[in-house]
Amino acid sequence: MDDITVARALHVVSVVLWIGGVAFVTTVLLPAARLLKAPQERMQLFDQIERRFAWQARLSTLIVGLTGFYMLYRFDMWDRFRHGAYWWIDAMIAVWMLFTVMLFVLEPLLLNRWLLAQSKLKPDATFRAVAWLHRILLFISLVTVLGAVMGSHGLLLFE
Ligand code: HEM
Repeated sequence: MDDITVARALHVVSVVLWIGGVAFVTTVLLPAARLLKAPQERMQLFDQIERRFAWQARLSTLIVGLTGFYMLYRFDMWDRFRHGAYWWIDAMIAVWMLFTVMLFVLEPLLLNRWLLAQSKLKPDATFRAVAWLHRILLFISLVTVLGAVMGSHGLLLFE
């Protein structure tokens, strides 16, 4: 069982690094950029700072996925996907997939360039869209963390 405890600890530490970073970007970096920079410069500042976070997020996403699937396999929890009370397992995988596609596929291939181009044409609207996207992602992630901690420790809602 020690291996599962280690996997759980690595899972949680990586979630903290990753979702903590998303929270920082959403509640500190984006509002600060809005306050301190003119509309045309906001996306550039955001892009430069967020680029550094992207690698931290990619690594933590990878560890969260590996440790998460390892726990599913070791606990043999596959039948949980059939019960609504374990919605938080589906939510964890959905959040993970969403970020994985964004961080590993969309961002490097097109999103970054597209956003910078859009921000030259419509700086204010693009910045607002980016801020809203982050708020929504943070909200979904935090609801998932709440459900996962309560559920892992025996409090199952919607039973
Ligand atoms: C591939 C994606 C993921 C898989 C397969 C996965 C799987 C798991 C499993 C099997 C557990 C243990 C459940 C139990 O003890 O009953 C767990 C716990 C947890 N997971 Fe995930 N997870 C994934 C992604 C995520 C994400 C994206 C988050 C955060 C948004 C997250 C946050 C947590 C938290 C906070 C716990 C509770 C730890 C505790 O209090 O003991 N996981 N996960």
